[in-house]
Amino acid sequence: MGRLAGRRVIVTGAGSGIGRAIVERFLAEGAQVVCVIRNDADLAELRDHPDVEIIVGDVASYDTNKRAVEAAKQRFDGLDAFIANAGVWDFHKRLSKMSSETLASAYEDIMSVNFRAPLFAAHAAAEALLASRGTFIVTGSNACFRAGGGGVLYTASKFALRGLVQQLALEMAPGVRVNGVAPGATDTGLSGSAALEQRDREMNADKARVSAMATHIPLKYVSMPADHTGLYVLLASVSEAPYVTGSIFVSDGGLIAGI
Ligand SMILES: NC(=O)c1ccc[n+]([C@@H]2O[C@H](COP(=O)([O-])OP(=O)(O)OC[C@H]3O[C@@H](n4cnc5c(N)ncnc54)[C@H](O)[C@@H]3O)[C@@H](O)[C@H]2O)c1
Repeated sequence: MGRLAGRRVIVTGAGSGIGRAIVERFLAEGAQVVCVIRNDADLAELRDHPDVEIIVGDVASYDTNKRAVEAAKQRFDGLDAFIANAGVWDFHKRLSKMSSETLASAYEDIMSVNFRAPLFAAHAAAEALLASRGTFIVTGSNACFRAGGGGVLYTASKFALRGLVQQLALEMAPGVRVNGVAPGATDTGLSGSAALEQRDREMNADKARVSAMATHIPLKYVSMPADHTGLYVLLASVSEAPYVTGSIFVSDGGLIAGI
């Protein structure tokens, strides 16, 4: 039997990258998963899976998070874990390189996905998670802890997420545990802000950039999405981490160990 047998889970950003790897690993571990995706075409091969429900929507909207929770209740009779994973990057955009108008729009693009969406998710899921004594998990980043993982908007959004994890761990205790996983450089097509004209850009499209990243990482390679999924299993399981709340587990090949 899998380590997540019968666990009812929501994963946002489930259509690609780390979110998709979480879905595959969780299904293999016996979970039932509501996958929140932005693009209708994503996850076509999982549409008829008996343990999968798909919700299409913008996570920055409260309604999408609420619909996901309702789907978990209706289809799987409850919710044990909400994984707020969707995110966008800023490709290291510097403050000085943005006009005031661009800055306002890019702020909205990045904060609404990286911070507001998990905030809305926690609010929308709180009652269901309290009922199951469940768990809330976010995907952070090495940028939760250090500068240089992005530009000012991305770094600030991930620092804010760290504050959300710690504060919610206090507010949702003792019924719900709140934690995060902080990946470092991962080979995905992470995209960026539309206001910064990065919506169609993919981080791993620049192979030279990906190779260059590896040279700064103590373990000397850029991770794959599946390298992080064991930590989500640990945090979402009933018994593997019952005393952990308010923590963010870093999975970055040693990058922030040097600070
Ligand atoms: N790839 C990396 O190097 C890296 C490093 C640290 C942290 N992260 C974090 O990992 C998480 C997943 O990113 P990834 O690397 O797998 O990239 P990805 O682009 O493959 O995954 C992000 C997902 O979020 C979805 N998404 C974005 N905006 C959305 C919106 N408004 N509504 C609904 N869905 C939306 C995208 O469709 C995509 O499926 C993000 O939170 C990112 O910040 C990634």
